[in-house]
Amino acid sequence: MKILILNGPNLARLDIRDSLIYGDVNYPELANLISTRAEELGFVADIRQSNDESELISWLHEAADMNIPVIFNPAAFTHYSYAIRDAVEMLKAPLIEVHLSNPMAREEFRHTSVISGVAVGTIAGFGPNSYLLALQALQNILQK
Ligand code: DQA
Repeated sequence: MKILILNGPNLARLDIRDSLIYGDVNYPELANLISTRAEELGFVADIRQSNDESELISWLHEAADMNIPVIFNPAAFTHYSYAIRDAVEMLKAPLIEVHLSNPMAREEFRHTSVISGVAVGTIAGFGPNSYLLALQALQNILQK
């Protein structure tokens, strides 16, 4: 089954972001870990990253139109993009929100997610494992 793994702004630059917060796995390595685990679970993962809100919204529309499950790290858009939230709300297949860091343990502006209320669930704070746990959760949900 095809799934979309969407990543928001600045996530392709993990190699130069604060490794104390985001760890030391770079974006290509992260994408590799995700696609390997996805394959093990029987998924074909289409992994994308964009710094552009409009592009992320178009990909969510594509997922809605084609009924594709999504694992989504909206990055900073998590905290304020109502446009992305509205796009997520239109999905029919499940969407799981993920974060490498634990936004609740960071600055106050990160404590709000406008996405969580329209996601099936949120997995945060486990580094790359957040994505791998989300893959497992997605498989469980889809098998029900
Ligand atoms: C993030 C957390 C966000 O607050 C931040 O803006 C990011 C990455 C994470 O994966 O931990 O860019 O989504």
